[in-house]
Amino acid sequence: MSVPQVIVLGSINVDLVVRSPRLPRAGETVLGGEFMQAGGGKGANQAVAAARLSQQPVAFIAAVGTDDFGRSSIKQLRAENLHTQHIRMLDGHATGVALIVVGENGENQITVASGANAQLTPADIAAIDDSVFASAKVFVACLESPLETVIAGLRRAKAAGLRTVLNPAPACAEIKDAEILKLVDVLTPNETEAELLTGWNVQEDLEDAVIACDQLRQKGVGQVIITRGASGCILRDESREASWLPAYEVQAVDTTAAGDCFTGALATALAEGRDLRSAARWAIAASAISVTRAGAMPSLPTRAEVECFLADRSL
Ligand code: RIB
Repeated sequence: MSVPQVIVLGSINVDLVVRSPRLPRAGETVLGGEFMQAGGGKGANQAVAAARLSQQPVAFIAAVGTDDFGRSSIKQLRAENLHTQHIRMLDGHATGVALIVVGENGENQITVASGANAQLTPADIAAIDDSVFASAKVFVACLESPLETVIAGLRRAKAAGLRTVLNPAPACAEIKDAEILKLVDVLTPNETEAELLTGWNVQEDLEDAVIACDQLRQKGVGQVIITRGASGCILRDESREASWLPAYEVQAVDTTAAGDCFTGALATALAEGRDLRSAARWAIAASAISVTRAGAMPSLPTRAEVECFLADRSL
């Protein structure tokens, strides 16, 4: 059995999704369309994306409740080739749930009841055997787990010589001045998160986006990729030039988990030894496929699907 090259620390949610002609305003009721229940949680999405794309097991550190959602989530994640022995099952806490509304153009609105996700502690990170970190190459985290636990995970991964990737989602101003940024080799904010962390509006102007990236690098981040949805991403590494990598033109059905797919794909490609630019291109292709499908976890592509997508576009 092969050993995980990617470790993901993150959340597990059950997503309760309604498609709607438009996103409701505060106090408004909109009659929506079909209901869908599916696996989700930014961490679980990232881990499943990495497992489907690498065709290798992925180690996943997370927490669920001892309820039906928790049991079925673990079963589902095990079937996705995730090593689930580091998922804690906590009595007295509910498994995370996300209420999601998806609008006509694929845009979404999400509220999360974190439940057991909020109970994952630095002690849970300390309890993991050294061998798990010693044999991996890339460590991924997002911000749906407690900050001190994410910091403990990043610290442990750095100490073991892993490349660390932080997807700073959901947006959290607390990390802007924190020690955490110094522990991050690759940061993958979207435009909103980048603006919250730097104060720069990165939507309009490439130069402003580059300034935002540089600010994050001055705070200790190694490399920055700002994801911009249909506008691709901006990449800033040690080289003098920043790069803008365009997205593929696709018909978006549901953008939920596109960022998770990007981060999981990036981690896979980095673990396989690709450089940052080539890894980001691969991740853009994977997330382009994900937005053409409904749901978070159900939308995540396999390696064969990404290869086919890229082959079609190189003709
Ligand atoms: O990024 C998408 C995810 O955010 C959903 O799966 C939902 O569970 C929330 O965590």
